[in-house]
Amino acid sequence: MAEFKAALARAGDVAFAEIETGVRMKAQFADTPIADAMLHAVRGGKTLRGFLVLQGAALHGVNEERAKPVAAAIECIHAYSLVHDDLPCMDDDDLRRGQPTVHRKWDEATAVLAGDALQALAFQMITHAQIEADNKVSLIASLADSAGLNGMVGGQALDIAAETAKEPFGLQQIERLQSGKTGALIEWAAGAGPMMVGADDRPMRDYGRALGQAFQIADDILDIEGDEATVGKAVGKDEDAGKATFVSLLGLDGAKRRADELVESACDALSKYGDDAETLKEAARFVVNRTH
Ligand code: IPE
Ligand code: IPE
Ligand code: MG
Ligand code: MG
Ligand code: MG
Repeated sequence: MAEFKAALARAGDVAFAEIETGVRMKAQFADTPIADAMLHAVRGGKTLRGFLVLQGAALHGVNEERAKPVAAAIECIHAYSLVHDDLPCMDDDDLRRGQPTVHRKWDEATAVLAGDALQALAFQMITHAQIEADNKVSLIASLADSAGLNGMVGGQALDIAAETAKEPFGLQQIERLQSGKTGALIEWAAGAGPMMVGADDRPMRDYGRALGQAFQIADDILDIEGDEATVGKAVGKDEDAGKATFVSLLGLDGAKRRADELVESACDALSKYGDDAETLKEAARFVVNRTH
């Protein structure tokens, strides 16, 4: 686990430095509160998605220097999704990563704009990466697909619909919702490394898909079992909203069993990489045992 923890921390440092450069050095409006809000939004997370990009890249012979704009990009998209997810018109949350949410520290307009700018910055950073043009276009096109209506945004819309649905969502609907809401960005992050060199991205995507589902089950479990101080965000929200989740549908034990099975399939998907994929396997085990 020590190697994984170090790699995760490293991904955080690398992604944050890249984003800070993008926000502070290149932007004409770098002295506005939006810039501060953008940096506030990208700070303090686990950087799981950036880590997946760097690890997948390393497995395919792409060094950190070339991979870092791509790792930073996915962390920007993820941070933007959280800033908007926390807004009063969505989940109305005051706390994120143990800090006030952007609309609480600044205001709603700043949160909307900081999220918008983070999304734009993500695509801008990938365009500047030292990656062969065709592969770069594939990365950009697939990220747009994963972040938009076909992925994260679509899943978020279903998540909102679930709160007012006449009949609680069943397992199939929850799986579909998850594959968009959290699955798409995690799967993309896992597949980005092979995509950077035009290699077969299916094993890494299979890993990412299983990991993403296990990750969401853990998020649903933390919403019930976690405490606010450790998780760094409000808990008990799913039940209060009367929302179907993996836990409400499978029960706590059933959900934990399902998550463990998914960790196993995630690891199995990496078999062709042998021992080189050990850190990614540790990541899968971490995802279900995490406390925040
Ligand atoms: C939290 O994601 C929100 C979901 C997508 C369920 P993370 O747990 O990866 O959040 P940070 O980046 O570590 O704060
Ligand atoms: C948020 O899901 C997922 C995205 C932002 C795409 P949740 O609403 O369950 O995440 P938390 O629990 O607020 O982190
Ligand atoms: Mg939400
Ligand atoms: Mg939320
Ligand atoms: Mg949640």
